[in-house]
Order: sequence, then C-alpha cells, then structure tokens
Amino acid sequence: MRIVITGASSGLGEAMALHYATKGTELVLIARREEKLQQVARRCRDKGASVETVVSDVNDFEKMGEIGKQLAQTPIDRIILNAGVSVGHAGGVTPFDDFHRVFQTNFLSIHALLEPIIPKLIKQTSGEIVFISSLASLFTMPTSIAYSSSKRALNAYAEGLHYQLHPYGMSVMTILPGFIDTEMTRKNRFKMPFFMKTEEGVARIAHAIERKKIRYAFPFRFYLMIQIVSLFPQSLRDKIVNFTNFKKGA
Ligand SMILES: NC(=O)c1ccc[n+]([C@@H]2O[C@H](COP(=O)([O-])OP(=O)(O)OC[C@H]3O[C@@H](n4cnc5c(N)ncnc54)[C@H](OP(=O)(O)O)[C@@H]3O)[C@@H](O)[C@H]2O)c1
Repeated sequence: MRIVITGASSGLGEAMALHYATKGTELVLIARREEKLQQVARRCRDKGASVETVVSDVNDFEKMGEIGKQLAQTPIDRIILNAGVSVGHAGGVTPFDDFHRVFQTNFLSIHALLEPIIPKLIKQTSGEIVFISSLASLFTMPTSIAYSSSKRALNAYAEGLHYQLHPYGMSVMTILPGFIDTEMTRKNRFKMPFFMKTEEGVARIAHAIERKKIRYAFPFRFYLMIQIVSLFPQSLRDKIVNFTNFKKGA
C-alpha cells in the first residue's frame, strides 16, 4: 500500500505515519522541517515501512504541482492532506498576511498537489483522498476567523470532489477533529473542551478511514454541542460566544 501524508513532521501527520508504518507499506512523507521529517522516517523504517521523504513548503505551489506529477507516476492508494497552520487573534482585525498564509497552507496548496494526481486516481479507478479539516470549520469564533474560514472552504472542496470522484470508485473523506494534543494546540492559552491525546485522536481517524467514512467529526459530544448551538437563534448564539473565554483569547 502506498500512502502519501502531508505535514508528517509532527503532530497528527507524524502519528499517522507511525500508525501506518508496517512491512509492505510505502510511505511518502512531506513537510518543511527536514530533521524532524527524517526522524519520523527513521522510526517508520524501523517498523518495516519503506519511506520516501519530500522536504517542501506546501505553499510553493509550482513545486507542489511538480511533486504531484512525480507522485502520479506510481499508483497511490491513499493521500492524506494534513499539513495545516492556525493563527489565533485575541482582538482586532486579522492581518492580511496571516489570512493569506492560512488559506494557502490549509486550502489552496491542497489543489496544487492534487491537480495532477486526480486524473491518475481516476485512471486507477481506486484510491482514497483524506482531508484533515476541523470542528472549527463548523463554528467560527471571533479569534479564529482565518482558520475556520480556510477549513470551511476545505469542506466545500472535499464535498465537491466526493461527488466528482465517487462514480470512479474513489473515496473522498473529510475528518473534522476537535482539540488534540499537538504542537498546534500546545500554543493555545484557553481551556480546550474535550481535549484528546494524540494517540487517541489518530486511532479514531484511522478507524474512520478504515470504514471509509465520507465525513467524520469527533469527539461526538463536542460535535453534538456545536450542532445544537447552531440551531439556536442568533441572539442566543451571540450570548454564548460572548460568555466564552475564546473572545478574549484567554
Ligand atoms: N491538533 C488539533 O487539535 C487539530 C484539530 C483539528 C484539526 N487539526 C488539523 O490537523 C492538521 C495537523 O495539525 P497538528 O495538530 O498535527 O499540528 P502540528 O503538529 O503543528 O502539525 C502541522 C504539520 O503541518 C506541516 N506544515 C505546516 N505548514 C506547512 C507548510 N507550509 N508546508 C509544509 N508543511 C507544513 C508541519 O510541518 P513543517 O512545519 O515541518 O513544515 C507539521 O508537520 C492540521 O491541518 C490542523 O489544522 C488539528
């Protein structure tokens, strides 16, 4: 099985690489921090996997297109689009540069890589594309406007791609995790509800992929809360957001 994972140098990407690292698995791991990526690759090889590393910034779209073309030379069983960044803003307007970077990394880079790969997968009439979105895509706090918007755009992209590729026998899956212990959440200065260990988060993601869930949001209780709140009248939702610490970025 050949599996491509972006953002494999830390957090969920690293843990997913290790999860899938077994004899007979070919992993292609992509990220910018070479040393960290090589460390992950070594640990995966120790578990029996064969590993190729690609050191690249996903925001170099031209390079991503080239990498996509290279990857498409050989069959791909699963590609996990996981690389992502978050920027939080406790107050004021989100600087355009942050907005730009978040949208490039979390959204636009994905199509730069997939554009040459999709025709290959269509020809194969098989393959899985997995998007790592976020529960934050379902509810936008005032402190995470750029991040939530980018992940919501990703959901829309994934939905369309599912309809496009499902008739060719392909699975397009969108995973919407809540808060999981990674470098990304370690910088948060607020209380994260239903906070989960990396291993548990990755076990749930892997299980959802195994079952080919088109959309998997977890933890369920957090997801349910968001769904219920979204049914409330706007005036009540305003009050809830104002009561949370998120507003102050505390
Ligand atoms: N942790 C959570 O609670 C949570 C919840 C919902 C969704 N997510 C999503 O899960 C994904 C993984 O995040 P994480 O929590 O595991 O955080 P993380 O530990 O910070 O990992 C982010 C990964 O993305 C890579 N990356 C970031 N910018 C990149 C760029 N420009 N080019 C190439 N690679 C880049 C990083 O590698 P380099 O820095 O080496 O490039 C790193 O491997 C993200 O899409 C995130 O939005 C996380």
